[in-house]
Amino acid sequence: MDIAIIGSGYVGLVTGACFADVGHSVICVDNDQRKVKSLQNGIIPLYEPGLEEVVHRNVSANRLRFTTSTAEGVGQSQIVFIAVPTPPQPDGSVDLTYIEKVAREIAEVLKEYRVIVDKSTVPVKTGEKVADTIRRYTKGAVEFDVVSNPEFLREGCAVSDLMNPDRIVIGSNSDRALSLLKKVYEPFMSPIMVTDINSAELIKHAANSFLALKISYINAISAICEASGADVERVADGIGADKRIGRSFLNAGLGYGGSCFPKDVAAFIAISDQLGVPFALLKEVQRINQNQIDRFIKKIKDTLWVLKDKRIAVWGLTFKPDTDDVRNSVAIELVAQLLKDGAIVKAYDPKGAEKVAEFGLCKGAVLAKSALEAVENAEALVLATEWNEFQSIDFVQVRKKMHTPLIFDGRNLFDPETMKELGFIYHGIGRASTR
Ligand code: UDX
Repeated sequence: MDIAIIGSGYVGLVTGACFADVGHSVICVDNDQRKVKSLQNGIIPLYEPGLEEVVHRNVSANRLRFTTSTAEGVGQSQIVFIAVPTPPQPDGSVDLTYIEKVAREIAEVLKEYRVIVDKSTVPVKTGEKVADTIRRYTKGAVEFDVVSNPEFLREGCAVSDLMNPDRIVIGSNSDRALSLLKKVYEPFMSPIMVTDINSAELIKHAANSFLALKISYINAISAICEASGADVERVADGIGADKRIGRSFLNAGLGYGGSCFPKDVAAFIAISDQLGVPFALLKEVQRINQNQIDRFIKKIKDTLWVLKDKRIAVWGLTFKPDTDDVRNSVAIELVAQLLKDGAIVKAYDPKGAEKVAEFGLCKGAVLAKSALEAVENAEALVLATEWNEFQSIDFVQVRKKMHTPLIFDGRNLFDPETMKELGFIYHGIGRASTR
């Protein structure tokens, strides 16, 4: 199939590269000339495990190209995917400016039948608006269909999520469009769920909000565990073993961050408000998420008493491991709070430093080149993101380098007993502290 993907961010680039990898001919379109140029030169603007290899392999095989021209993309493809950002507005509702603009741009160059697929996360009923807009701006009577096909990629494992999806959701009101979309996804050999457009759009917000709810649920339990002396890891194992509940997304920690959950929960609240059916439960999900970092900082303050001039090492800055993405990272918020209270912060992240500098984050903190450098003379170590690298560090060295052996583990990465044996005072989330 000949496919165009408009928008070469995380979703667009991974989708385009993986479609090419299963044999489709893909043109990725982006209006950022610098990004397109660097992609044409083989430079990938983001870190995502396995992505660089897939892009290079398919560019070499002439199955993947990059352009700034929407006309070229739409002209040469039967199917046009929209994968542009849908950022949040201050009130939590979704800014659909980019979607609307792309719909107009497609309409201006539409000459024959095309399927326009919305992959960006959008409020329910957006498909109808995209179709209206294209209809209004096309020159002459050109046939087209609009389809919703939400993505469920997790950063850090986006390539494998795309290649082996749990399900593929296609919201379509047209058999013609549906049969073309099925051909796109045939090589993935995964279950395809066909719905109407509105249901497909809703599935995305409902799925992400449910996952955020699961995280807030276990985080609320972690507070009860701390108050009662229970261990949240054991509780999560115990309830997660019930197949109806499942163990995944029951990892207590500093709360969820990133470019999806905070935005999508806020959007779903705004959407339900607009529809006249307020979703109060999701407001509580947000409150618990904020409370989790507040509780953690209080724990640090209660232990260190005064934060001013305390030397604190922070491991992990990205919003989760295996990505360089620092957008809405709880770790970044944590560093900002520590700095605000006058602490001297030395932070280390395996991949995030470049993006931290690019976005001007953590101003006032020192960025260390290694995990061991960060803990040099530190009075406390805070683990904010659970990179694998931190698990294999020589803690005898860490102990020697630190001024005082105090660990605050914001992701329950380390075993409290092992840390105690190594001579650390350990504080985790929802589990007993050691002394
Ligand atoms: C999410 C969805 O999982 C994906 O399907 C969707 O399409 C995009 O949004 P992503 O934001 O990349 O993916 O990462 P995810 O692995 O879902 O983690 C989101 C946040 O939740 C991270 O900050 C992570 O640390 C946190 N989290 C996750 C927890 O605190 N506990 C958990 O058990 C799982």
